[in-house]
Amino acid sequence: MSQREQWSSKIGFILAAAGSAIGLGAIWKFPYIAGQNGGGAFFLIFILFTLLLGLPLLLAEFSIGRTAQSNAVDSYRKIAPGTRWHWVGILGMITSFILLSFYSVIGGWIVVYLFKAITGQLNNLSSDQYAEVFGATISNPVTSVFVQFLFILMTIIVVAKGVQKGIELASKIMMPALFILFILLVVRAVTLDNAMDGITFLLQPDFSKVTSQTILEAMGQSFFTLSVGVSVMVTYSSYLPKTQSLPRSAISIVAMNIFIVLLAGLAIFPAVFAFDLEPGAGPVLLFNVLPTVFSQLPFGMFFFIAFLILFLFAALTSAFSMLEIIVSVISKGEPEKRRKWSWIIGLAIFVFGIPSALSFGILGDITLFDKTIFDLADFAVSNVLLPIGSLLISLFVPMKMKKTALYEELKQGSGLKRGLFETWFFLIRFVAPLLILAVMLDVLGVI
Ligand code: PHE
Repeated sequence: MSQREQWSSKIGFILAAAGSAIGLGAIWKFPYIAGQNGGGAFFLIFILFTLLLGLPLLLAEFSIGRTAQSNAVDSYRKIAPGTRWHWVGILGMITSFILLSFYSVIGGWIVVYLFKAITGQLNNLSSDQYAEVFGATISNPVTSVFVQFLFILMTIIVVAKGVQKGIELASKIMMPALFILFILLVVRAVTLDNAMDGITFLLQPDFSKVTSQTILEAMGQSFFTLSVGVSVMVTYSSYLPKTQSLPRSAISIVAMNIFIVLLAGLAIFPAVFAFDLEPGAGPVLLFNVLPTVFSQLPFGMFFFIAFLILFLFAALTSAFSMLEIIVSVISKGEPEKRRKWSWIIGLAIFVFGIPSALSFGILGDITLFDKTIFDLADFAVSNVLLPIGSLLISLFVPMKMKKTALYEELKQGSGLKRGLFETWFFLIRFVAPLLILAVMLDVLGVI
């Protein structure tokens, strides 16, 4: 077999991994979930989970991938031959499949908004009108399925071509640009009348609103935004040369993520309160609020278009990683097979995702446990499959990998101090499995 492909530059991996992490989770999902869960307390619990569970798990996935240098399934096979641990990778593939099926619905929303903004259909509307236009658009069955298809099509084309070549380069420009636009947006949002109410909502914890459901959502959200529990990061780090520091990469990804979550919150909530909108509006929140904030800026539509392009890019780099993990297992690095399977899997995900796309319109009345098909898919991934995947990874690492070898792996390229390593190992071995189990059992009413 030819030598495995590696990232084209040292920074390539970190950009791709950050690209997978930063996406709809931080920008679209966080504000609406926080809005539904009372704001500040949710935000605080989310940050705690990100630091106590998300960061250590990210590092765990990195060590598995770089140790094994293989795809999401074979990595577990290599480290624990003759066991069933590779099912963790298979579970990751299934999770990714469902994840992309509803992720692409929101990706499609960005595409359609972009089209509307470019063609001038969003000029000079009031905040209520924005919500109306958007609601009408996503409830149209043909439009919503068509744009979902376009989003998946873009994902397939890139993944079919191979390890994200070229994308790394684009990320280098697009990500910082996204940060800058966000800062601009925040500056505008926090200077609106009544902005303080929104800032208070986001930053002042009100623990009376916290239920076991809130805690589960916050945990799921922290896994979701970091792409952990699916072995995506196992796959990405397997392409990584030994000279790169894993801890430093993990920390910078976590830091960027928290920063973007904070920016998203500070852009959205002040505007929600200033324009008397509903913080618990659900998945449409960001799409209803943002155009209004942009319309308050000079050259607002121009900035809105730029934002949507960058936002689309951020969503796509996450979507690539979801399809990549499935395709890399099935194609085993052979380019011919990669092309074929990218199309087959991608189109299957599209078909599977159609009911989710229609949940905001003609299938909106079909619910189970009070959730639409879209909400169910999201709930299954964020609050069931990601925690289970993460739990298994936190068991796998201390049970199947030698502590000394782990230390060697993490020390390579980083000079990681023993004390920090021990802290990480403790978090992975005891804190992660117990905490994840406790949160899940608590929500089931068992404890
Ligand atoms: N982290 C991505 C986001 O926030 C979603 C994702 C989850 C991607 C799991 C891959 C795996 O948008």
